[in-house]
Amino acid sequence: MEIPKTIIKLRERRDVAMLGGGVKRIDEQHAKGKMTARERVNLLVDPDSFEEFDLFVTHNCSNFGMDKQKFAGDGVVTGCATINERVVYIFAQDFTVFGGSLSKTYSDKICKIMDMALKNGCPVIGLNDSGGARIQEGIDALAGYAEIFWRNVMASGVIPQISAILGPCAGGAVYSPAITDFVIMDQQNSYMFVTGPKVVKTVLNETVSTSDLGGAAVHASKSGVAQFISNDEREALMLIRKLLSYLPSNNLEDPPYLPPSDPIDRACPELVDLIPENPNKPYDILDVIHAIVDDGEFLEVARSFAQNVVVGFARMNGYPVGIFANQPKVLAGVLDIDASIKGARFVRFCDSFNIPLIVLEDVPGFLPGTNQEHNGIIRNGAKLLYAFAEATVPKITVILRKAYGGAYCVMNSRHMRADLVYAWPSAEIAVMGPKGAVEVIFRKEAMDSEDPKAVLAQREEEYREHFANPFRAAEKGYIDDIIEPQRTRFRLIRALEMLANKKDSIPPRKHGNIPL
Ligand code: HXC
Repeated sequence: MEIPKTIIKLRERRDVAMLGGGVKRIDEQHAKGKMTARERVNLLVDPDSFEEFDLFVTHNCSNFGMDKQKFAGDGVVTGCATINERVVYIFAQDFTVFGGSLSKTYSDKICKIMDMALKNGCPVIGLNDSGGARIQEGIDALAGYAEIFWRNVMASGVIPQISAILGPCAGGAVYSPAITDFVIMDQQNSYMFVTGPKVVKTVLNETVSTSDLGGAAVHASKSGVAQFISNDEREALMLIRKLLSYLPSNNLEDPPYLPPSDPIDRACPELVDLIPENPNKPYDILDVIHAIVDDGEFLEVARSFAQNVVVGFARMNGYPVGIFANQPKVLAGVLDIDASIKGARFVRFCDSFNIPLIVLEDVPGFLPGTNQEHNGIIRNGAKLLYAFAEATVPKITVILRKAYGGAYCVMNSRHMRADLVYAWPSAEIAVMGPKGAVEVIFRKEAMDSEDPKAVLAQREEEYREHFANPFRAAEKGYIDDIIEPQRTRFRLIRALEMLANKKDSIPPRKHGNIPL
């Protein structure tokens, strides 16, 4: 059969369009160790599942001779595909066309798939690699960004939004990824900053490299902007697939169930003597998490930021859960500003997307000191409290060891409407640790005695006997049961089954006023 000329012409146009900025630019992109936008999309999605839209769209700008420079697609690849057979909408910025810079038509393409994703209840994934606003377009490019930001906000909490930063991301352009639920940065080639090193030098006379200012390591460990870093682009794309496997497509769906192979009643004998005798000795909370979740698989979120708490996704009997835990190995698992912010954002994400929360608690309190107080531990610690109080998903707490003071209240306590609270026999639930408590209430008595040290030691022992156990709380019904550590997996799965049909709500309102 002879192929009609119209089809031949379509194919020719399509072939040219598929080259984006052309072969030379593609070679340059490869020379930097970067993939093209289409190569990235193809690696990310299920084979042959990508349906591209607006392949022939071009920009409308005529400033500075731009009308003579047009590329089909205009620097962004947009469309729809499946990942693990579930529909997702994608945009991938194409650095080979005007450095991936954003024009108004480019933004219209992104807005189109964002609108479709929201209407159809599917995640949006953005692959970012762009020189920012297309300078020749002036305010039209800024208008385009603002249109995207508005959609990011409208979609927040309705559909999951994931950003991978695989190249430059600067200026106001950073705010679109910042609003999305997760940011993954490739540590080879990506950076994010509001103002680059040159402006920093001019304004502040500070010399700083691109990577020291806004590289992946900085955003993963210091600013908290990036929740994941990858060793290369491929790993970033695989991380997106993995992350999505825990998430529902929208806020009206349940997260995806995967038939489990790990028995629900598998005992965890390694937990029996995990807690050291000495309450000041650390242990690794990841040992607990890996022991209790299905097949030991845990996707840790924001691993390098505020390492005194650990958050992430796992499955229990095939159902996704969000885990929030203190990490006794780092700063004794204390709550500080960064930990509170990290935890609050994670709790709110899980609550938005119907992911039950499990809290593993071993917390000596909030971190004291002028640094914390002056930078707002009150305001920021309140975020965590607020997030737990507001969450209506199933909420279960296991107190492993310390649950002291305000941190006891904040970390999903019974009084903040945790559905179930369990404690290990090693739990110590009290207003503060024995040493501090005794110094407050028995200091005068000790000073008046002949041997203050001995009096304090004696009182400390009494205090420890009285409060450093879970029985006081159990007698008052503040915890539902004291469980043996090796049964934690089984008891948590049972608890999740009990709460599977939980219905709860908060008073109707426009929105609350979380302390920001
Ligand atoms: C138009 C741009 C561009 C831009 C890059 N290009 N950025 N064209 N508008 N914003 C073009 C370059 O002119 C060049 O075209 C091609 O893309 C590749 O760029 P190179 O500079 O050769 O690449 P590289 O050396 O890898 O450097 C990449 C870069 C640099 C670091 C991103 O291009 C750069 O600094 N660009 C400007 C970044 C910027 O200041 N953007 C505005 C930010 S403000 P030719 O044809 O010469 O090869 C902003 C406001 C957003 O975005 C506000 C939202 C609210």
